[in-house]
Formats: sequence, C-alpha cells, structure tokens
Amino acid sequence: MKTLRAAGILGIGHYAPEKVLTNKDLEKMVDTTDEWITERTGIKERRIAAPHEATSDLGVKAGLRALENAGLKAEEIDLIIMCTLSADYKFPAAGCQVQDKLGAVNAGAFDLAAGCSGFVYGLAVASQMVATGSVNKILVIGAEVLSRVINWEDRNTCVLFADGAGAAVVGPVEEGYGFYDYVLGADGAGGEAIICHAGGSRIPVTEENVREKLHLAQMDGSEVFKFASRIMPEAINKVLAKAGLTADDIDIFVPHQANVRIIQSGAKRLKQPLEKFFINVQKYGNTSAGSVPIALSEAWEEGRIKKGDNVLLVGFGTGLTWASCVLKWSR
Ligand code: UT7
Repeated sequence: MKTLRAAGILGIGHYAPEKVLTNKDLEKMVDTTDEWITERTGIKERRIAAPHEATSDLGVKAGLRALENAGLKAEEIDLIIMCTLSADYKFPAAGCQVQDKLGAVNAGAFDLAAGCSGFVYGLAVASQMVATGSVNKILVIGAEVLSRVINWEDRNTCVLFADGAGAAVVGPVEEGYGFYDYVLGADGAGGEAIICHAGGSRIPVTEENVREKLHLAQMDGSEVFKFASRIMPEAINKVLAKAGLTADDIDIFVPHQANVRIIQSGAKRLKQPLEKFFINVQKYGNTSAGSVPIALSEAWEEGRIKKGDNVLLVGFGTGLTWASCVLKWSR
C-alpha cells in the first residue's frame, strides 16, 4: 500500500441490543431445533433491537464507545463512513443521522453498502484517506438491524441473522504501525445468492410483493456457504501476499462471523490453529456489517490484541463481495 504517513486504529467499541433471542426461543417460532442451529452454524443466541432502536441508534452507541476509547470528541471527526445494508431509511443515508446524533459538526457522512464485507471496505477507504493526509480522523461504523429485513417465517435465514454494531476511529499512528494493506473483491454475477428483491428501483414495493415477502432477505444458503468457504482463505492469502507476510506472522485473525464451520474450514485450509481465529458467532449470530467490528472490539476487550500484534480482518457476503486487511496494532 502506498502511504505518505501511517494510518491505524485509534479506538474501537461495540454495542449489542439488550434483548437476547435464543435457539430455544426460535424453536417456538419456526420448524427448527437448538441442536440443528448449534451443529450447523455454531450460533446459540443473538441480539434483537428494541422497537424504538433503528440502525443509526446502534451505530451511535458503538461510535460513542469508539470515540471514548480513542479519547476523542465527536467534533474532532472529519468523516463518518456508515457501513450497513439496513439503513434507517432508503434515503437519506444513515451516516447522516449518526453525524447529527453524535454532534459530529465537522464531519461529512456517507453509507457504504458492501454487506458483510462493509466494515473492511470502510477501513480500506478510511486508511487511504488518512494515509494521504487528506483528512485526520474517520469514524468507521458497521451497524445492522437485520431483524427488520428478515422473514421470521423462513428458517433458512431467521436463525442466522441478527442486530448489532461496532465502530473504529481511523487516524494517523506512529510510523511502523497501522495498516499494511487490503484486498477488495466483488462478483456481482453471484448477487442473487443473498438478495432483497423488492423495494429498490427494479422492483418497487407493491401490496402483492409484500404479501410474497419479496421486500425481505432471501438466501441460497448452500451456494453462499460454498462461496464463503472458498473466498475466506483466498482473501486472506491475497492480502498476506500483498503485505509481504505469511499466515504464521499473524497473531489474530478476526473473520466475519457467519458460521463457525466456515471459520473452521478456513483455519484448516490456511494450516493455522483455530485458536488464532476470534469467534463470537455463538453470542451474536450473523450481524453482517456489524460482525467484524463487534468481534474486533470484543477481542481487544478480552486482551487478545496487544500493541505490535499483526491483526488480519476478513469479510465476505452479499454482492457478492469480500474484503481483507492486515494491520500492526498501534496501541
Ligand atoms: O453473511 C453472509 C454470508 N452468509 C453465510 O456465510 C451463510 C452461509 N450458509 C450457511 O451458513 C449454511 O449453508 C446454512 C447454515 C444456511 C445451512 O446449513 P447447511 O448445512 O448448508 O444446510 P442445508 O442448507 O444443506 O440444509 C440441510 C437441511 C435441509 O433439509 P433437507 O432438504 O436435507 O431435508 C434444510 O431444509 O437442513 C434443513 N434446514 C433446517 N433444519 C432445521 C435448513 N434450515 C434449517 C433450520 N432448522 N433452521
């Protein structure tokens, strides 16, 4: 990565809504079992936003924690990148609601729609902007309230997806630390594999398609599983090669939390011990753009990341998209 100055993470934080929905609760809602969900996905429970909470509310809470962690005030932020596919409104961007609620009066704001890869895409954009010296501090948030866009009668999706948010402040760091490099990828031809058909400009919402639940998420689980299991190690190897590192140089991998089996197969393909992969899918399910920053924030809180550690983040999901980045932790 070409840089004029080192860019890294100055602070992180996350927020998960209070309400816990367990596999046992889901047994009462759809034809499923705790045993199936645990065995096939690793998920035991997930968080669901309160009726008054929308995606920007979760983003604000995570953002405030990241700011506090970085010792910064909202006025010091130059830009907010809100990574989400479940914004409060079709427009305006949820990033603008976050900007207002935080009182980030000096910040621009936009939404970034790269699904479960969104947060890593956001870090790539932010780190480059900081590295060129064009801006100083960028708040990157990954937040979702997927409970409002999933079909609660569809056991293929409703046992997987959930709500949550994580955030990081990206800014200049000591030379020799911060982002080494990143890889961003997309394969739009596979876009039908995870899609919300109605509500966009192609299929506007009608009474009929709402009845058919076309305004809610649909997923071809096994297609996405095959894609995810292939792309996760590939995206990791690509960013390692770009950064001139090997998997053995990485202290902790923080992958998108979609399914513990995808993480296990990635670790095996990379010939790395599973203990080097941070896993919290059992507690939160798949929170799409929220997943990587929540995992990163929890890993840091648990003391799993220390100054000088090489940290690798990887996301994959709707689009189809994938993204990976590697950084030397600077704090
Ligand atoms: O964040 C974006 C990335 N998303 C992902 O990475 C998700 C990737 N996909 C997956 O994680 C997995 O494909 C799933 C967890 C969605 C499904 O697991 P699977 O092992 O691939 O199961 P399957 O789709 O092959 O289904 C196996 C069986 C089917 O029954 P039959 O046809 O064999 O009789 C399904 O109908 O399991 C059934 N099934 C369920 N049974 C109980 C599917 N969902 C459920 C359920 N409870 N919730």
